Amino acid sequence: MCGIVGYVGPQGALDVVLEGLRRLEYRGYDSAGVAVLSDGELSTAKKAGKLANLEKVLAEEPLPSSTIGIGHTRWATHGGPTDRNAHPHLSADGKVAVVHNGIIENFALLRAEIEATGTEFSSETDTEVVAHLLAAVYRETPAGEGRLAEAMRAVSRRLDGAFTLVATHADEPDTLVASRRNSPLVVGIGETADGTAEYFLGSDVAAFIGHTRNALELGQDQVVELHRTRGATVTDFAGAPVEPTSYTVDWDAAAAEKGGYPWFMLKEIAEQPQAVADTLLGRLGESGELVLDEVRLSDQELRDIDKVFVVACGTAYHAGLIAKYAIEHWTRIPVEVEVASEFRYRDPVLDRSTLVVVISQSGETMDTLMALRHAREQKARVLAICNANGSTIPRESDAVLYTHAGPEVAVASTKGFLTQVVACYLVGLFLAQVRGVKYEDEIAAIVDDLRRLPEAVAKVLEQMEPVRELGRELADANTILFLGRHVGFPVALEGALKLKELAYIHAEGFAAGELKHGPIAVVDQGTPVVVVVPSPRSRNSVHGKVVSNIQEVRARGARTIVIAEEGDEDVVPFADHLIRVPRTPTLMAPVVTTVPLQVLACEIADTRGFDVDQPRNLAKSVTVE
Ligand code: G6P
Repeated sequence: MCGIVGYVGPQGALDVVLEGLRRLEYRGYDSAGVAVLSDGELSTAKKAGKLANLEKVLAEEPLPSSTIGIGHTRWATHGGPTDRNAHPHLSADGKVAVVHNGIIENFALLRAEIEATGTEFSSETDTEVVAHLLAAVYRETPAGEGRLAEAMRAVSRRLDGAFTLVATHADEPDTLVASRRNSPLVVGIGETADGTAEYFLGSDVAAFIGHTRNALELGQDQVVELHRTRGATVTDFAGAPVEPTSYTVDWDAAAAEKGGYPWFMLKEIAEQPQAVADTLLGRLGESGELVLDEVRLSDQELRDIDKVFVVACGTAYHAGLIAKYAIEHWTRIPVEVEVASEFRYRDPVLDRSTLVVVISQSGETMDTLMALRHAREQKARVLAICNANGSTIPRESDAVLYTHAGPEVAVASTKGFLTQVVACYLVGLFLAQVRGVKYEDEIAAIVDDLRRLPEAVAKVLEQMEPVRELGRELADANTILFLGRHVGFPVALEGALKLKELAYIHAEGFAAGELKHGPIAVVDQGTPVVVVVPSPRSRNSVHGKVVSNIQEVRARGARTIVIAEEGDEDVVPFADHLIRVPRTPTLMAPVVTTVPLQVLACEIADTRGFDVDQPRNLAKSVTVE
């Protein structure tokens, strides 16, 4: 939530900062703004709405050229999405410019204190207090090396809540400083062709992967000073030096481009066979062993686990619901699944024999992070399934399994989701193996099934034209219902979520068995009902019951859209639209049945004329609670 960019180096700062903002716009698009420092003066430009609006302003009134600058793309919390509230915010003396991601919880108190000194505020944001405080504290800080960083530490110590702050001062043309508590920030360290050092700041590495792949992780409660000649200096809030961890970013810049597709989402849907294959790659040895990227858990600890919680938000939560079926079936360990925002605040029963699996594409979702910390405080073991290298959630977990989906830019998750589901299967199998509850040949058979998934997804994608056509027909629908049973139930929830997120149509997912306990009352003449049908080969015999559900809604006027595996003839008489998916083992069916629902939502949104990649009111990475 909110994208932050900073640059100091020999290049034109404005271009670097704008490019970074373009790459981070998925984090928020309520407004955008930049500040550059030239000849001892700060100049800003900011505009409500998408980045394109700011670019228009800059084309009409260019900013002076500069080699130091900061930028921000906003998801509004305090104060509406107006020009006035857009970042960067300046101090009253015009000396400090600051951008912020997070919420400063004690801002009202600080604002009153600052106003009492006669300073007038020019926005309703919590951020502006930092600009005024920083300017005041800077004035009182002795001159010399590191003065701005010292002032930033003093200000940070006074702030409550979550914040990433990046600031520049008119009297320090060579220095950027940043501070971090509970909101994301990474540092990029690069070099131009002539060997001159340059430094980047970004909410995530996408901001600078066009320039460098060398990055530094910043920990909690740390301040970094980036100086043109002195380089990067990291301390904690008290000023004690910290040795930062450096890492190499393995995403390339091209992966974060649209590559000829009209929407990132379409590109990311198309990348799913590869993303699933990459997530499996190198994980499954001959004897079925699973390779976790970073494990700080022993086999004995994994054997001692007597309960699993899966905790996540949004689409990742739906991946967790699917995980429950697979992990319980393969390991016989009880699994509970919960949205992170509920888990954290209801005092869940946890101890050292509980495994908490947190799932997060971004690795920065605040609710999930807070749930993780709570679980660790209670001595539970935490395993993260995550896509973004170097992000906070994997760093704070006991073990990490990265999904190798590559950068996901569209706000609505697609390849992130499919790879999370696959990673959950891997975790389930791994636990089964370590605990010895499955024979080697059983594990090997499941591993073979997993290896066939990329091809199955590719096959689904080849048959999507009729789904797109259906999407165009359904663009005027007021309500669309989704039914599923067993692992098809979370798929129904995910299909409904995608549609809500992208097309702003009322959509709900239900467990098909619940149909007669309420949802069927919503069905009217022509109501589209999407039914995710389980395999007729599944041993739990729910197939027949779901086929009956299709008939029940159809008898009440529904327009039935049926997703069923190849060869399932029972559904044919009752399907107004039939979408075929390849035969897949029961537990793995979500990997193929979800794909048509992604395509459907995307097509409906596009037909309705909406921005598929940046739906209204949403942000890709929700870094406030
Ligand atoms: C936001 C996004 C969703 C995503 C959820 C969890 O709501 O819009 O697409 O599923 O956050 O994100 P995470 O990065 O933790 O997987």
